Amino acid sequence: MRVAALVIALMTMTSVVSAQVTKQSFGKTPDGKNVDIYTLKDGAIEAHIITYGGIIQALKVPDKNGKSADIVLGFDTLDEYVKGNKGYFGALIGRYGNRIAGGKFTLDGKTYSIPVNDGPDPNHPVNALHGGPKGFDKVVWDAKEIPHGVELTYVSPDGDQGFPGKLTAVVRYTLVGKDLKIDYSATTDKDTVLNLTNHSYFNLAGAGSGDILKNDVKINASHYTPVDANLIPTGEIASVAGTPFDFRKPTAVGARINDDNDQLKKGHGYDHNWVLDSTGKLAEAAEVYEPSSGRVLQVITDQPGVQFYTGNFLDGSITGKGGKVYGHRSGLCLETQHFPDSPNHPKFPSTELKPGQKYHWVTVFRFSAR
Ligand code: BGC
Repeated sequence: MRVAALVIALMTMTSVVSAQVTKQSFGKTPDGKNVDIYTLKDGAIEAHIITYGGIIQALKVPDKNGKSADIVLGFDTLDEYVKGNKGYFGALIGRYGNRIAGGKFTLDGKTYSIPVNDGPDPNHPVNALHGGPKGFDKVVWDAKEIPHGVELTYVSPDGDQGFPGKLTAVVRYTLVGKDLKIDYSATTDKDTVLNLTNHSYFNLAGAGSGDILKNDVKINASHYTPVDANLIPTGEIASVAGTPFDFRKPTAVGARINDDNDQLKKGHGYDHNWVLDSTGKLAEAAEVYEPSSGRVLQVITDQPGVQFYTGNFLDGSITGKGGKVYGHRSGLCLETQHFPDSPNHPKFPSTELKPGQKYHWVTVFRFSAR
């Protein structure tokens, strides 16, 4: 009797104490670098992370009846990520999440240029998006297993995509219970700017199962940063009150997305930075509820902003995992980060990192069903 009780207690402890972590090969990049896939499993939740781009390749989460589905957009093979991940599915973004106007900023009196790769007319790019043409989403990270997860390291040389300083970025993915935690840290040897994030597209009904317009979204933010026609913040910190940007109470994504609103037109839907009320304290930034599955995603962070992007540029031209086509607005992103184009907006929270300082912050994706 006592032995049985002890065995049960130990089994319960191990399932609480540790996610199972396994590693397999995910292939080789065209230039011959090995890429691995780490599987983190705790109870019914599984996260698959690849060392190319630090990408969350799959995330399996049970619904209200215990039925599991993969709730992130992505691909089955490395080749597809290397050739066709135009939407940055699941990737770690660096050095600078979102846009830098004209790809230019000034730091300590010197102007830096990041190659431009984004703009309303794809043939004439005007902004640097997500760190330039070869950002952290397109490199192979060094990886090692850590308790409950995997630690990824990338050393970005001085001048990488035009950014100053040799930067060492360390990102830890861990899964404990219902929490997938992403822990970001970095150091530099010269003054630089930095804005890391993760670019997962969630569809809580299952990737490839339709659009996200009926998802209820709550964002704990009283303000957002309006944009110009190039999706660069104008600098204004505007109140969400009385606008389609007020998600302080859970509201269906589709309820106001087609309203006659200049900002929604500029974003082709929601593609904006919300200024979180939590002001840098670890707190819930957003919650998403998907009514048919009952799945709930809570996004918890200590970052000042979240880019809520409703997959407006998805148009059915991408076929993802299991041959499923990703149509218009078939995934939503909640990219916790600093504000877009901060290096050109002295009034926004600073994205500068200096030698001797440690960049460190976390985001937790917490899953449940109701
Ligand atoms: C941006 C979108 C962009 C998407 C994919 C988001 O972070 O805000 O404008 O289309 O990333 O690149």
